Amino acid sequence: MTQIETSTAPLPAETGTTGLFDPFTLRDTVFRNRLWVAPMCQYSVEKQDGVPTDWHLAHLGSFASGGVGLILTEATGVTPEGRISPQDLGLYTDEQQEAFERIVRLIHAQGVQAGIQLAHAGRKASTFRPWAEQSGTVPEAEGGWRAVAPSAIAFPGYDEPQELSAEEIEGVVEAFRASARRAIDAGFDVLELHAAHGYLLHQFLSPLSNTRTDAYGGSLENRARLLLDVVRAVRAEVGESVPLFVRLSATDWVPSGGWDAEQTTAVAAWAREAGADFFDISTGGNVTGVTIPVGPGYQVEFAAQVRAGAGVPTSAVGLITTAEEADAIVSSGQADAVMMARQFLRDPHFALQAAHDLGVTLPYWPAQYTRAAWR
Ligand SMILES: Cc1cc2nc3c(=O)[nH]c(=O)nc-3n(C[C@H](O)[C@H](O)[C@H](O)COP(=O)(O)O)c2cc1C
Repeated sequence: MTQIETSTAPLPAETGTTGLFDPFTLRDTVFRNRLWVAPMCQYSVEKQDGVPTDWHLAHLGSFASGGVGLILTEATGVTPEGRISPQDLGLYTDEQQEAFERIVRLIHAQGVQAGIQLAHAGRKASTFRPWAEQSGTVPEAEGGWRAVAPSAIAFPGYDEPQELSAEEIEGVVEAFRASARRAIDAGFDVLELHAAHGYLLHQFLSPLSNTRTDAYGGSLENRARLLLDVVRAVRAEVGESVPLFVRLSATDWVPSGGWDAEQTTAVAAWAREAGADFFDISTGGNVTGVTIPVGPGYQVEFAAQVRAGAGVPTSAVGLITTAEEADAIVSSGQADAVMMARQFLRDPHFALQAAHDLGVTLPYWPAQYTRAAWR
């Protein structure tokens, strides 16, 4: 067996904590800090069977040794048709569940909470992965499928989806419930429902993609019905101890007539009553051709607005790239936690670097890495 050299030297003396590195508790789960890995699709399933591979183990495992408080998996389909691409992860078979168990074990071994983002892509399903030579909808002959949606309105560049019947909508709720059960059985601590970025739950929320005239369309209450039904079903399935997150796009970025921060705030409050605990606030993804003022921290104001307006805990995400920015967001009470995506791709151990930058001594450096805790 190879001997791994570990440092036995004590860590530098405690120099105080900041908001970003303070623990955070939800229900029975304690997050050791508030710097979390956002969900990131890898489009890297090998046999189009939704089963996590060595790539997913290494990708998510690299963050686990990097000092974060929570790692969320990529958008994971609750049904085969709910996957964004044929190479996306799913959680509806025993084989998928077993492969996730291994990933969760690795994350837990580093003291990190493991979360899974449960998703249904709706009209944005069955698409080519970003680096494919083609774009748009994958034809059935190439492993694609007919996408479903609240209404038969195509997302620009994709095929027209099939409108879901009321019975099929109940099937979607059941699929989220069943995947939530599998996630808990696989060892996940946190569940996140993906209701953002123009995927199925967001498609129901927004009047731009939902023109139904039944109980699932029209008024805000009706457009929110599917999300709230999913929240209730998942909460009933997993019991009272599990933190349940919802990722919401706070706006479609259209001047009027779309999904906006006011509706997001109202629905977050209802979702809290229905059994959700925490709101991961992003924006956009449901329509094209809009102007988005992309810049450092450009979505933080929405996390702050939903937090204050609905009285719910939130996280901020989107072009937050430095320790100082993340710490200021938490310390100022704009959000309870910060998620980052691309910064963790550039540096999977960014949280260790962030603590170093802020002068915070972390008691949970991996023993193998403690020599890097010193200057
Ligand atoms: C490679 C990649 C894959 C992503 N996949 C997902 C996903 O599966 N689910 C999701 O909600 N957001 C996804 N996102 C969005 C991120 O979670 C995040 O909200 C966004 O990148 C903005 O944060 P950042 O500026 O720190 O990267 C993805 C982003 C990237 C870069």
